[in-house]
Amino acid sequence: MLITTGTVIGKYTILRQLGVGGMGAVYAANQDGLGRRVAIKVILPGLALDPRALREAEERFQREARTLAQLSDPNVVQIFDFGRHELHGQPFLYMVMEFIDGGSWDSLIGGHIKLGLPEHFAIARQAALGLAAAQDEKIYHRDVKPGNIMITRKGVVKVVDFGLSVDQANYQATGHQAKGTPPMMAPEVWEGQPSDQRTDIYALGVSLWQATTGKLPYTGTTLGEWMRHHCLTPIPHPVGLPANVTSVLQRMLAKHPEDRFQHHREVVEALDQLGTIPDLRPMVKSWFANPSVDQARLAKSIPAVDSSRPVNRRDRDAKGRGVIRLDEPIVIRIPIAAG
Ligand SMILES: Nc1ncnc2c1ncn2[C@@H]1O[C@H](COP(=O)(O)OP(=O)(O)O)[C@@H](O)[C@H]1O
Ligand SMILES: [Mg+2]
Repeated sequence: MLITTGTVIGKYTILRQLGVGGMGAVYAANQDGLGRRVAIKVILPGLALDPRALREAEERFQREARTLAQLSDPNVVQIFDFGRHELHGQPFLYMVMEFIDGGSWDSLIGGHIKLGLPEHFAIARQAALGLAAAQDEKIYHRDVKPGNIMITRKGVVKVVDFGLSVDQANYQATGHQAKGTPPMMAPEVWEGQPSDQRTDIYALGVSLWQATTGKLPYTGTTLGEWMRHHCLTPIPHPVGLPANVTSVLQRMLAKHPEDRFQHHREVVEALDQLGTIPDLRPMVKSWFANPSVDQARLAKSIPAVDSSRPVNRRDRDAKGRGVIRLDEPIVIRIPIAAG
């Protein structure tokens, strides 16, 4: 199934591809009639290796759409529409979202514009506000990372990609799986415990650590290494940060959820105490003055669509050992004791 510029999906005409993941892709499109720009995320059935994987992916996709429909917050991407369409005899699901004219936090980290600490705090703060709105609905994102936090041209931060999220109602059905992206996954996730907002606070802490120091707090290549670091390695000392920033980060990365901030609004308060939160608009303006540099850099990091690979990809390192891609979420099935 080929979706290219000009492909019509319902009321929407595809303009260009924005991103591609394990099971789907995101496109910029034009909503015919209203003439507004939207973003369309689709599940590509051609990528599913077996019907069960496709069914699971479709269920997850539908849950993601319902979750977004439940949330209405300036710091969470807004959903407009959801449906099924057929191209060349192949039916597939799609969701239509507000188009975020901007870029992701990860494209800013190490990009051509050097952000100051206060700007990174401002981004994390707005992300925490979006996650607080989710927490109010007992929705936990479970894949918080710089690639899923976007910034608009107007300096508004939007949390995207609720594809791994869970709410209390569907925890029974899906809670037996550890989900997330290994560098960001909190100890309780590795231990097969249920996630809550504190799991997202941990991942936001790792993201902010990466943004402010340029490095992840832990490094690893295999799942075992990541698990050991998150669960057992003492929290390192971030290099080059003031003491008050260090203590916020270390609290977010506490091994035990009870030792972290308990609510996203506590994270917001802690960030507010670090100093004046700047307006992000001037930064975004200079970022957009020359976006091609970072777009070229990011384009290289987007994995090509390859239907011969399994959904949760494992690559091989130089010695032929299986390694986990750091930029993609994984699902590990962990049996959890009843009760
Ligand atoms: N509403 C949107 N507007 C603009 N770009 C978007 C939007 N949603 C997603 N994207 C882009 O597409 C990429 C993949 O979207 P995401 O929802 O994270 O899907 P995946 O589950 O494949 O990671 C994002 O990292 C972002 O670059
Ligand atoms: Mg994503």
